[in-house]
Amino acid sequence: MCTSRKDEGSITYDGEKIELKPIGYVKKGTEDKDPSEPNTLSKLILRKDLAEALDGLNEFSHLFVLFWMHKIERTLMKAHPRGRSDMPLLGIFATRTPYRPNPIGLTLVKILKVDRNVITVQGLDAFHGTPILDLKPFDPWDMTQDIRVPKWWMKLEKEKTTKRN
Ligand SMILES: C[S@@+](CC[C@H](N)C(=O)[O-])C[C@H]1O[C@@H](n2cnc3c(N)ncnc32)[C@H](O)[C@@H]1O
Repeated sequence: MCTSRKDEGSITYDGEKIELKPIGYVKKGTEDKDPSEPNTLSKLILRKDLAEALDGLNEFSHLFVLFWMHKIERTLMKAHPRGRSDMPLLGIFATRTPYRPNPIGLTLVKILKVDRNVITVQGLDAFHGTPILDLKPFDPWDMTQDIRVPKWWMKLEKEKTTKRN
C-alpha cells in the first residue's frame, strides 16, 4: 500500500518558475572544513514529518543527494574545470562548477547510519546548512560501462592520484 499526503504549497510550477521546499539540510561537524574532502562526514537532517519516507533506506549502501548550493551568487556561461586557468574554457554544462543557472548539486555518498530523520553519510561536498532537495538510493541501474571523459578530466584525475601517493 502507498501512503500519500497532501502537502499544500510545497511544490509550485507556474510555467516559468519552480518553487521547492527543502526536505532538510546538511549538518557538518566543522563549518569551515573543505567540503570536497572525500572522507568528510555529514548528517542529513530531514524534516521530522518526512522520517517515515526513510523506511527501507538503511538496506542500501549508497545514496544520491540533490542539494541547493545556496551560497552561490553568480551564474557563469563558461568556466575552467576546478577554476584552473590551465584547463580549457568550457560551457558550464560540460563541468561540475557550482556557478550554474540552477545551482543544484548532485553527489553520490556512502550511507553510514539511518536513525529516524537523520542520515549519516560520507563524501558529501556540500557546506554546513545546505538545503537538501531530494534523496535517491543508488542501484546497479545507475552503472554503465561505456564511459568516455575528456583528456582534461584524465589529467586532473592523474594529478589527484599522484598527490595521494
Ligand atoms: C564543484 S560543486 C559539485 C557538487 C556536486 N558534487 C555536483 O557535481 O553537482 C562542489 C563545491 O561547491 C561548493 N559548495 C558546496 N555547498 C555549497 C553551497 N551550499 N553553496 C555554495 N557553494 C557550495 C563547495 O566549494 C564544494 O566544494
